[in-house]
Amino acid sequence: MTLDQKKLDMETIVSLCKRRGFIFQSSEIYGGLASTWDYGPLGSELKRNVKDAWWKAVVHNRDDVVGLDAAILMHPETWRASGHAENFTDLLVDDKKTKKRYRYDHLSEEEKAKVGTEYTEPRAFNLMLQTSLGAMEDSSSKVYLRPETAQGIFVNFKNVIDATSRKLPFGIAQIGKSFRNEITAGNFTFRMREFEQMEIEYFTNPEEAEEFYKQWIETRFNWYTDLGIRKENLRLREHAKDELAHYARGCTDVEYQFPFGWSELEGIADRTDYDLKQHAQFSGKDLQYHDQVNNKKFYPYVIEPSGGVDRATLAFLVDAYHEEDVEGSKRVVLKFDKKLAPIKVAVLPLLKKNAGIVELAKKIKTDLQSNLTCTYNDTAAIGKLYRRQDEVGTVYCVTVDVDSLEDKQVTVRDRDTMKQERIPLDNLKSYLVEKLS
Ligand code: GAP
Repeated sequence: MTLDQKKLDMETIVSLCKRRGFIFQSSEIYGGLASTWDYGPLGSELKRNVKDAWWKAVVHNRDDVVGLDAAILMHPETWRASGHAENFTDLLVDDKKTKKRYRYDHLSEEEKAKVGTEYTEPRAFNLMLQTSLGAMEDSSSKVYLRPETAQGIFVNFKNVIDATSRKLPFGIAQIGKSFRNEITAGNFTFRMREFEQMEIEYFTNPEEAEEFYKQWIETRFNWYTDLGIRKENLRLREHAKDELAHYARGCTDVEYQFPFGWSELEGIADRTDYDLKQHAQFSGKDLQYHDQVNNKKFYPYVIEPSGGVDRATLAFLVDAYHEEDVEGSKRVVLKFDKKLAPIKVAVLPLLKKNAGIVELAKKIKTDLQSNLTCTYNDTAAIGKLYRRQDEVGTVYCVTVDVDSLEDKQVTVRDRDTMKQERIPLDNLKSYLVEKLS
């Protein structure tokens, strides 16, 4: 029996994440810092696998996208040009009685009717975090922590073209930290003040932008399902005109059905030529594309698939979570896609007091770890060890027993089917590498 996804609550996920070392509250010993989270030993592996899968899909497996790793701190003019200094705001209201602050767009219609009486009039609040550079803390030293990675791509558009001689259409992809002074926090790692984005700016001829917009929506939806997210938990939602960011003429979100409701994982936006034009105007540099075949200069349009690493990681965690009834007892298992599973193989000795078994098990782990992420564990009886590995999504368990010393075979147990197979030691590595590739 598998637990109905809709009955899953976030508390179950949050507590598993803490207990097993996926995600911890940031600075917990000091009472925590709101909306910031730390990834533990398993969480950091999982998140790294999510980023690697994305990079492979959008950079290594394509001919038309190159990578970039731009700085978090950028010239302050960047944010005036991009419009963030002026427009990257949330409308906030205060409850006059409790003094609590709310996002205006999160109020119900009933609550909105109380604006002016029980709530203050909405005021714009800029979400960018500021810091200062150098020894002087004056207005000239003020810089922002980037609220999106995208601008690092736009300001490097010319550099990339000059360095790579790319022709349209082509994309620049980047993964990195972004920061937003989010007012309404909550829902675990869904809305954070420090988070990671994985963004592509795909530059096209203006006439082809609509076609690539459609293509990228499909490509990005399929990325999630190819990595195991169930189709019924994913949907596309097109933005209404009044929802669009200041730079976009169209946007479609890939949404996931979290336990707290359908919410955005990624947005695919048509940013037109807005950003390149703005940066050209503010920097005074020529950022037009030179079409040498037709001897034409113009600003390309940009299609932007922009996803959150933390939101994707959370969706993969939630979707992987299964509870099964196995002979009357509950088995919790994270059925991650094998590419994403933080640990691919656990090597377990059946008897930890048998020096020969322990030695062989450790040797097997050393041999496998150059190809696969492995762990060794001898801290409990085998049944318990299996359950612990299931709970963190380890794809295979390799058990070494007394017979292994004689017949040079080990037992390989599959996480999902729980089926066990005896595999000769000589073939073990190639067997596992093949199964996991
Ligand atoms: N460059 C476009 C852009 O930044 P966005 O919709 O504001 O667009 C893109 O952000 C993605 O970044 C979102 O779909 C989400 O996955 C992630 N994201 C945005 N704000 C976030 C936050 N406060 N915490 C976690 N992830 C966030």
